[in-house]
Amino acid sequence: METHKVLLIGSGGREHALAWGLAKSPLLDALFIAPGNPGTAQFGTNVDLDVDDHDAVLEFCEENGITLVVIGPEKPLVDGLTDYLEDYGYAVFGPSKDAARLEGSKSYSKTIMQKYDIPTAGYHVFERHEVSGIRDFISEMAIFPVVLKVDGLAAGKGVFICDSAEEASDVLDTILNDVSLSAAADFFVLEEFMQGEEVSVFAVSDGKTAKLIGYAQDHKRIGNQDTGLNTGGMGAYAPAPILDDSTLSHIFDTIIQPTIDAMAAESTPYKGILYTGLMMTVDGPKVVEYNCRFGDPECQVIVPALEQDLLEMMLMSVNERLEYASFTTKPGFFCSVVMASKGYPGSYSKGFPINGLGLVDSDVLVFQSGTADKEGEIVTNGGRVLNVVGYGETLKQAIDSAYSSVEKIHFDGAYYRTDIGMKGLRRVDSSIS
Ligand code: AMP
Ligand code: GLY
Repeated sequence: METHKVLLIGSGGREHALAWGLAKSPLLDALFIAPGNPGTAQFGTNVDLDVDDHDAVLEFCEENGITLVVIGPEKPLVDGLTDYLEDYGYAVFGPSKDAARLEGSKSYSKTIMQKYDIPTAGYHVFERHEVSGIRDFISEMAIFPVVLKVDGLAAGKGVFICDSAEEASDVLDTILNDVSLSAAADFFVLEEFMQGEEVSVFAVSDGKTAKLIGYAQDHKRIGNQDTGLNTGGMGAYAPAPILDDSTLSHIFDTIIQPTIDAMAAESTPYKGILYTGLMMTVDGPKVVEYNCRFGDPECQVIVPALEQDLLEMMLMSVNERLEYASFTTKPGFFCSVVMASKGYPGSYSKGFPINGLGLVDSDVLVFQSGTADKEGEIVTNGGRVLNVVGYGETLKQAIDSAYSSVEKIHFDGAYYRTDIGMKGLRRVDSSIS
């Protein structure tokens, strides 16, 4: 059996979950994580590499006999790390720079959806120099809200739902006056507002064949009942009861496979994880956005549910062997509750000791996000600190399991939502009654 030396790129809860999954594989010889976190260090060797420095990553691969590179976050994918390493003969799990444009450029992804008839919101694209044209266009619109998006990567901060032409005009000013938003705004996408519930569907592709691997719902807002500021995600659960088998196969046939076919037809085959954010509208499922990677915190509930060997699945994608694969998931539900630092997503303090990590129930997984190892003690080191993942035969049991362990973990200023998974539970309850 050929075994692999894997370099995993990233440092969040997603990468801790991926390291956990990879470490279970009999195909793994050695795991390195760059830069990783104290959670990933339980499963491999963290290496202090600047992943923006592609030469440094290549040198590490050469010196350590790496046989597979797995890229967790979007930025290195959009920056072309896959292409760079592939040019030197390395196997990489994750799409090429051109394919990652599905996430890296919203105007590009809309163009693909329009050209290949993939259901999504109606839209217009404007170039940056046409800002006054956007204002005129919106001022003549009769239907609000309208959604204004910057084209490029904006760490979840580039989407604005505007209730009036005045608000949209103020948003344009805000974008142009903000250094990082403005840098992502070579183009603007103005989009029809879609009403409905959101769900995230995950597929793995080898450029030709796609296979579904899971579907989840996350909780983007900081407060209970989806109130307050947007965050990277405060929790997730899978599978999401909002989708039944027939809706899921409809989504596969009308959205997932057509997207993979479209990318192949464009001569930019899509390999890796395709994460499709959908809105379940009265006219059926429509694409809100594509992401070119696992979601965080969705990965923390999708990977534990996979019965498939994660490393083998990644190799099937890289080696274009997904056609005959069939993936099963563990029956039951997973629910992940994010424990965050007080003040997140605004400013927060760091360095508080985390207690109780050893006290969680034996079937509960704790994936670390913003943590650091301070002389052998795990301390807080970011906004989202921990992901506490419960499992149960029912969604209710999974939620209860996660929260019972959350209560055993303490750090100064720990904040978490108390309603993760409840929207899924309401759906289960209403289908029973
Ligand atoms: P995106 O980064 O494109 O996923 O947008 C972030 C969030 O904005 C989504 O998860 C939705 O909650 C919301 N959103 C984006 N586009 C739309 C739309 N066309 N209609 C309604 N909500 C949207
Ligand atoms: N949970 C949202 C994301 O990973 O983009």
